[in-house]
Amino acid sequence: MSVNKEVKRVTTHVLQEMKLRGEKISMLTAYDFSLARIIDQAGVDVILVGDSASNVMAGHETTLPITLDQMIYHAQSVIRAVGRAFVVVDLPFGTYQGNSKEALNSAIRIMKETGAHGVKLEGGTEVVESINRILTAGIPVMGHLGLTPQSIYKFGTYTVRAKEEMEAQKLREDARALQEAGCFAIVLEKIPAALAAEVAKDVAIPVIGIGAGGGVDGQVLVLHDMLGISYEFKPRFLRQYLNLYEDILNATKSYITDVKSKDFPNEKEQY
Ligand code: KIV
Repeated sequence: MSVNKEVKRVTTHVLQEMKLRGEKISMLTAYDFSLARIIDQAGVDVILVGDSASNVMAGHETTLPITLDQMIYHAQSVIRAVGRAFVVVDLPFGTYQGNSKEALNSAIRIMKETGAHGVKLEGGTEVVESINRILTAGIPVMGHLGLTPQSIYKFGTYTVRAKEEMEAQKLREDARALQEAGCFAIVLEKIPAALAAEVAKDVAIPVIGIGAGGGVDGQVLVLHDMLGISYEFKPRFLRQYLNLYEDILNATKSYITDVKSKDFPNEKEQY
């Protein structure tokens, strides 16, 4: 299926229509102007300024350290590049849990200072109060269930979530709660494909999966993983389209060789 060029700007309404007509939603992360411009030109439907920036941009082990100011900086860079995609920004750890007023203030800062189109947060019934409050300001909210990296110290591992019936049942209920609260979409991360397909059928809003199989309404990957820039991270669900780590490594080695050997710059590459 080719990219729908008729769509001038992807909105929550467009995403809902895509679900209704069975057109899969494509979503990727971006954190900077240059890559955001390329993936927007390619026609990706949703760009997530993910808190995975904490890992792939800043080199932290988890998503916990990234701050609201840092997320705003990344989102501002992305927004300058984007003309078509719907841009969602992650509310970072500690800016929305347990305090709905703080959640609203954080979401307002993101919308006001970046020009993004919506926010994403992790969790189910525990964060419904925060979602309700953010929605009072007319800010679209995307939910995130399953493996929620901001809770990694609670889980203790990055393995598949909701394999046991009790956790699966909680996830079903959380998905319904997010829909009832007014979320426009939900990300399901690293859960069994059958459960994700069941949830996508059960709720009316788009469900976008990462490591959640093909029975959902769309797919999201971290851009640096999908381009093969992140070297060590190769989970089973990841389809790697390029091996940029090797390409950039080899290009850099060639450059160093050319500089050392005085091959660069040549006659044509100077004034
Ligand atoms: O931060 C992120 O990149 C995400 C995706 C994995 C969905 O939340």
